[in-house]
Amino acid sequence: MKKASDIRPSEITPSEVFRDRRRWLQLAAGASALALLPRGVAAADKFADLKPGAYRIDEKLTPYESVTTYNNFYEFGTDKEDPAKRAGSLRTRPWAVVVDGAVGKPRTFAIEEILKMAPLEERIYRLRCVEAWSMVVPWVGFPLAELLKRVEPTGSAKFVEFTTLLDPTQMPGQRGTVLDWPYREGLRIDEAMHPLTLLTVGLYGEVLPNQNGAPIRIVVPWKYGFKSAKSIVRIRLTETQPETTWNLAGPKEYGFYSNVNPDVDHPRWSQAKERRIGEFFKRPTLPFNGYAEQVAQLYAGMDLQRYF
Ligand code: MTE
Repeated sequence: MKKASDIRPSEITPSEVFRDRRRWLQLAAGASALALLPRGVAAADKFADLKPGAYRIDEKLTPYESVTTYNNFYEFGTDKEDPAKRAGSLRTRPWAVVVDGAVGKPRTFAIEEILKMAPLEERIYRLRCVEAWSMVVPWVGFPLAELLKRVEPTGSAKFVEFTTLLDPTQMPGQRGTVLDWPYREGLRIDEAMHPLTLLTVGLYGEVLPNQNGAPIRIVVPWKYGFKSAKSIVRIRLTETQPETTWNLAGPKEYGFYSNVNPDVDHPRWSQAKERRIGEFFKRPTLPFNGYAEQVAQLYAGMDLQRYF
């Protein structure tokens, strides 16, 4: 017997239909069209041969429905329901990611090449949003380090900058000025190379839905969710700390590091507790979002009140 994840799209849908569906999805205005798809059709976007990754927390998963309809993706609006309704206009093929800057071998990688670069794993991570809610998501991807080592970072590469697609025709939110587009985020090089930092292409065994940052995003589980930039087109290694979108928007509210820290409140609200989506009572927030054992040593000797 085959598991659903072993079935290749070509086995369940004639490739014509599969291709048509993709095209149709890209044209579809949004969630209402998506919702009409029978569940069996959605299975066409399942990954085959997924390995359970080393990092899997043993907590109840946030339902697929919530993970894909309660989103922050300001390129498609600022309400939580906006991305699921409006991200149908994002075209995820063709797609390429430029990897350049302080590297020996700058390259542009087609998404197809990235998908074959390293074994895809399923990892179950907590995602803690700076807005004090959290989710538990089974992501699909591989360590960002796998990609970075292919471009051979030079000795002077100290930081990594991620840039989201800039295209107001596909991303209606970019016609407004709610943020300074394109969305940019950054990590220190040792954070970017840490095995927990996941180059992410899917969730729940499926290709990433557009609203979750298709076709490729970063997930950095010990930092607030906004560090996990979506739909990225460029990864640049730099000698100096890059500017980041939320830090530009509110330097006193959003620092460069943004490690989950229950002891450093946001100026407008506490970070001591969080609400797991789907639950009523709040739970205490854990230092580094529960990943202290793996990452605390990256910040040894640093004043985390100052470098928040
Ligand atoms: N990336 C881009 N390009 N634009 C955004 O608005 N929002 C961030 C992050 N990445 C955002 C983004 C925030 S605030 C969070 S909490 C997470 O995406 C949400 O990821 P999810 O919708 O997959 O849960």
